[in-house]
Amino acid sequence: MLNTETNFTYQRYVQWMRGVADLRYANAVLQWDQETYMPEAGADRRSGQIATLSELAHRLFTEPQRAGELAALMADGSLDEKQRRNVSLTSEDFEQQARLPGEFVRTMSETVSRSFQAWMNARKANSFSVFAPLLNQLVDLKKREADYLGWQDHPYNALLNQYEKGCTVALLDKTFSQLRSPLMALLAKIAARPQVSEEIVQQSFPEQKQWAFSMELLQKMGFDFNAGRQDKSAHPFTTNFSARDVRITTRIDPDDLSNMTYSTIHELGHAFYEQGLPDDQYGLPLGEFTSLGIHESQSRLWENNVGRSLAWCRCFFPLIAKHFPSQCKHTGAETFYRAVNRVQPSFIRTEADELTYHFHVMIRYELEKALMEGLLKVEEIPAYWNEAYKKYLGITVTDDRTGCLQDVHWSHGSFGYFPTYSLGSLYAAQFYAAAQKAIPELEKQLLAGNFSLLLNWLRREIHIHGRFFTSEELCRRATGTTLNIDWFMQYVNEKYRFIYAFEEEAGQS
Ligand code: CO
Repeated sequence: MLNTETNFTYQRYVQWMRGVADLRYANAVLQWDQETYMPEAGADRRSGQIATLSELAHRLFTEPQRAGELAALMADGSLDEKQRRNVSLTSEDFEQQARLPGEFVRTMSETVSRSFQAWMNARKANSFSVFAPLLNQLVDLKKREADYLGWQDHPYNALLNQYEKGCTVALLDKTFSQLRSPLMALLAKIAARPQVSEEIVQQSFPEQKQWAFSMELLQKMGFDFNAGRQDKSAHPFTTNFSARDVRITTRIDPDDLSNMTYSTIHELGHAFYEQGLPDDQYGLPLGEFTSLGIHESQSRLWENNVGRSLAWCRCFFPLIAKHFPSQCKHTGAETFYRAVNRVQPSFIRTEADELTYHFHVMIRYELEKALMEGLLKVEEIPAYWNEAYKKYLGITVTDDRTGCLQDVHWSHGSFGYFPTYSLGSLYAAQFYAAAQKAIPELEKQLLAGNFSLLLNWLRREIHIHGRFFTSEELCRRATGTTLNIDWFMQYVNEKYRFIYAFEEEAGQS
């Protein structure tokens, strides 16, 4: 039994945390609006509004007396397991956040808002130099942030840790070096085979019809429209204002159906996670996602392991043909399946196939690491970028928009974020293999358009726990082991051997 005093204190803790969360989510509404509907002229004032709310939320969260209150709560033996975990995670967050001066948080927020506009302008002008001055300021701020937060071995570790707790340069160097050669070997095998055609998805697909298809797709796959909505933005994203209000966006390329389709399914995977977080833990750590790597594992699992499977293509092809009868007239689900799994080095990360994708991430990782170390200057980014694309993917970048200006992340002040994309794909393959084992009839269910068994498994193993477990613990509980690249390599080897019809290797059947 809780004694009344402790209960009161825990309740006060909850009240305080929910006040902070209200400010943060109100800010998220402003940011969502900034990227979807806000007229351009509103940008300057909006930057100020967002900065003020960020500063207020930070100030409310880091009130000095909270340190003592949290310590007292931690020492109280009558809290239950979940309450204790909430308080302990909050103490960690508090300790980190309190290291950042309020003035710094405001400056960062204002710089980020201005950077986002500068990035948009730079993309319009197709010129990195329009973005460079703001990016320079951001990189300096990020170095200061790493110093405020404290780091060991590498300043980049402080930033990586914000997105993926415990993630380090040493760990990523190891993971990427393990991935590099088997990926290169598989890419070489594919390059030696005849290329598959992507003609089916590269036709004219009117924007309005794509939009209608995407909405039906979301509904059929189980997006809860009572607790969310979809809109359009330049760079697709998912945000939430509670587990009962989750926003996703998509973008439409009228000459390519797969772009919108897989971006929609990707964001749907993120949205499933947010809609599956426990709403009774609103504002508390157990009501939040555990890490960005795990968040990305959910989007990549739905996008690739499910959405790019033969079963999904067979299940959804009739719907695609219903929306686009003339484009689908002389073809079938298998052709669509091959087209959306075509492997081809390309310029844009978000449109990359599952194999070359990791090289896009590695390039950004190496670049950010060098920026944080001071080995690379902001002005040198385009040259560095273009050289890396030549070296890893064998392609020549000819303009900034399809080169180093393609990602929104830096303009958001997100450095250390990209590696979570690769981690997400690796986790996705491992989770999916575990789900297949737990649900023997999974493929049949997907073929029949029934996604609830898989969604329920993910809800049970991952979503419902919020931050109760770390990524590593979640992974071990759900799959039996910690993160291991073998699951991903096994998945892609099997998949592409089938699509590109390799010779079977000795010892394999
Ligand atoms: Co994502």
